[in-house]
Amino acid sequence: MMSAPDYDASVDNWLEKEPEQGWVHQLIALGVSPGSRLLDCGCGGGKYARNLRRAGLDVIGMDRSAEALRLSDKNNNGEMPIVNARISSLPFKSGAFEYVLMRYVLHHISKSDYVTSFQGLYDIIRPSGALLIETSFHEDVLTHFDHQLYPPLGRIALEMYSEWKFTSSALSVAGFVVERCLPMFRKAGQFTSVYSALENSRRLVEQGRGPTTWLKLSEAQRSEFHNVRMLELARRFPDDRVPREWRGSLVLARKN
Ligand SMILES: C[S@@+](CC[C@H](N)C(=O)[O-])C[C@H]1O[C@@H](n2cnc3c(N)ncnc32)[C@H](O)[C@@H]1O
Repeated sequence: MMSAPDYDASVDNWLEKEPEQGWVHQLIALGVSPGSRLLDCGCGGGKYARNLRRAGLDVIGMDRSAEALRLSDKNNNGEMPIVNARISSLPFKSGAFEYVLMRYVLHHISKSDYVTSFQGLYDIIRPSGALLIETSFHEDVLTHFDHQLYPPLGRIALEMYSEWKFTSSALSVAGFVVERCLPMFRKAGQFTSVYSALENSRRLVEQGRGPTTWLKLSEAQRSEFHNVRMLELARRFPDDRVPREWRGSLVLARKN
């Protein structure tokens, strides 16, 4: 499982993803204050949690994956409390946290479970606390050239990620008031060469690895996808600058 395709060596290894410089400050600018108790729900390898802890937040990491939690523990020198649990059965008291962060976790939840998942999270957030969701919505996903170059991949991405309208209405059914929805640009202004982009997809396709969306392609589709990239990338980026940008959104939904 992987947060987002961004075509570098870490594309297949979401556990090792690092926050971009300034990421934590974007959260603080939204009012997430140092000293607050925050649940990193679906913390993965714990590097985002580590950044939050360094900024002075009191963070607890939670994930359904024991492997992710082992790495999270290592990346936080055993200093961050970690909990192996699923969003569908949260082992926390009502009002236990000021903030819950879900970074690139939403696309792992079935859309029919959004409301109950948000209701569970609503319960463990204190009055006036907030849920922070970082994800990509359809509008973000559609901007990616691979989703345009190879429509079967675009369709998978649109199935996995949700529409903003759908998510915001599920949040309000669960009792949240959406306060902000900010664009987030990962690797904005960074480029790779056509050769490197192709080498990367060739390696991942050969090894049967890659972002979650790629893994949902059949074997035949995966090689077709790579062939389409071989034909189209140079045509689409004649200046040999393939953008590495991945677009997302950060939502702050306040408890009523
Ligand atoms: C794409 S990774 C994101 C990890 C981290 N938040 C980050 O931004 O790098 C999604 C994480 O959510 C976890 N996850 C997915 N569904 C979950 C659920 N229902 N309950 C708890 N964790 C879940 C996965 O195990 C994985 O570690």
